[in-house]
Amino acid sequence: MNPLARTLTGMAGGWAASRVIGLAAHLQHSGPGAGSTSKAKKLQSRRSFTRNAALGASLIITAELAVGTVWLLWPNKTGAFGGEITIGETSVPEVQGTPFRYPEGQFYIVHTDDGVQALWWKCVHLGCTVPWVAGQTQFICPCHGSVYEYNGSRISGPASRAMDAMPVTVNDDGSLTVNTDPSAVIMRDEYTPAAAVPYPA
Ligand code: FES
Repeated sequence: MNPLARTLTGMAGGWAASRVIGLAAHLQHSGPGAGSTSKAKKLQSRRSFTRNAALGASLIITAELAVGTVWLLWPNKTGAFGGEITIGETSVPEVQGTPFRYPEGQFYIVHTDDGVQALWWKCVHLGCTVPWVAGQTQFICPCHGSVYEYNGSRISGPASRAMDAMPVTVNDDGSLTVNTDPSAVIMRDEYTPAAAVPYPA
């Protein structure tokens, strides 16, 4: 359920709860013994009931709103860098197709005959963001000129190894789940076919 729906559900729940409390109190005060009290006592009792019901309803709605607001504002790591990100099948490039760039996860999806990889766009030299240069079909770091192949292998420049990769899982529906936790990143000197995850044709 999305945060807005949760907030609205919470508000509806608070309203319903206040109605239940109000109804219960009303039934209690309209019982058989109520007729024996004086008019003044009845009036006072009704006022007290109304005040308590209104107070109870206000407290419940306020609590629900507070919970809904916290849910709404709480950072959601799903789909953001540091967590797991799922990429739909339609975003997976064809074999040797233009890398799919996913800024929120800081990776590129590349697809070779060996399978798919999620390449962290952070240059292994000093950490600059490495763009894909379509005209040269290479990743070329703008900072000091490190050059990487489509599969992440280092070609030249001060970088000491291949681009780092993020663990990828191929799901049954053809989507990919990428683990963008930096502590899970795979460092390798060079690309090897075993580094790619086979992807169904
Ligand atoms: S940071 Fe990329 S080559 Fe230096």
